Amino acid sequence: PKPNLAPTPPMGWNSWNKFACNVSEQLIRQQADAMVASGMKAAGYTYIVIDDCWQKSRDADGNIQADPERFPSGIKALADYVHSKGLKFGLYSDAGSLTCGGRPGSAGHEFQDARQYARWGVDYLKYDWCYTGPRNPEAAYTIMAKALRESGRDIVLSICEWGNSQPGRWAPAIGHLWRTTGDIWDGWKGKKEWSHGLLDIIDMNAELWSESAPNGWNDPDMLEVGNGGMTATEYESHFSIWAMLAAPLIAGNDLSKMDADTKRILTNAEVIKVDQDPLGRQGRRVWREGDLEIWVRPLQGGDRAAVLFNRGDKPAEMAVSWEQLQLPPKLKADVLDLWSGKKAKAVAGRHGGTVAPHGVLMFRVSPGVQ
Ligand code: DGJ
Repeated sequence: PKPNLAPTPPMGWNSWNKFACNVSEQLIRQQADAMVASGMKAAGYTYIVIDDCWQKSRDADGNIQADPERFPSGIKALADYVHSKGLKFGLYSDAGSLTCGGRPGSAGHEFQDARQYARWGVDYLKYDWCYTGPRNPEAAYTIMAKALRESGRDIVLSICEWGNSQPGRWAPAIGHLWRTTGDIWDGWKGKKEWSHGLLDIIDMNAELWSESAPNGWNDPDMLEVGNGGMTATEYESHFSIWAMLAAPLIAGNDLSKMDADTKRILTNAEVIKVDQDPLGRQGRRVWREGDLEIWVRPLQGGDRAAVLFNRGDKPAEMAVSWEQLQLPPKLKADVLDLWSGKKAKAVAGRHGGTVAPHGVLMFRVSPGVQ
């Protein structure tokens, strides 16, 4: 069986969204330093993951080599550095002959690569799906999962075949998270080649709630918060919906240059607590009319999280009903607004307010403690 490495959705940072192929050991050390200094580590972010383009070639024995210009000290030294900060270290490979960025993939080298990762001290592998030819995704990912299990080290497996082969049917048995879509891009909506704006990604994930559970999570892709293509309000919506989706929270911005809004959003402890709720049940969109929607997520101990989401361009008056929360209509509950911090005591029936254009109100509803 797969190791129990993700009882709650993994939290960390990955180089791709901001830096793409522009990775180096200086960058990774800088981001690890910033993860600690910025308060991100204290907020729960743990993994520092190098995405594509760290590889260069294989040696005569087939061992994978890091790009010696970008990683002159080698991957082991870098993993040691990340570990010395109390963080965990992740790498990227691909189930095909090449990675999407054209570096050597792991096809035919799965066991050799997994042993190398274990020797280097890798804790997390993101495993991509370019140049795979006729390979079957379930079969290919099962081989790498076995190789990781036999490597002698606990390594999280992040499956990245973009939801093409309904991974919710097979990935839970072998992986800890699996992408459900093509790539996210840092914008509100719309498709760009193989990537999707925020609203499109959300729509593609809204119905997948039954496939997610502790130790195996739907992955709607990494966060764009702080990358500059959306407003602070839109990034609040992004982060709130990721928490409702029980999504892995993998920051994709430059941690060494975060403005106040970026830090405030990414380290919002109450929203993170919803994402990391130990019950591990993904939230659902329970109501939708035009540009307005209501999402509900059941939490450990009987609390509920609710998001009132306004996709439109005008402010909207919205409220979540106790029926939508699956609570008796007269039951009194305390309500915490997770973005303003305001508390409302002994509310019953419904609760809401004005939702900004492209924004959310997010509540934690705690019944029955009066
Ligand atoms: C495609 C993946 O979906 C991205 O997240 C990223 O890993 C790139 N490949 C890297 O080439």
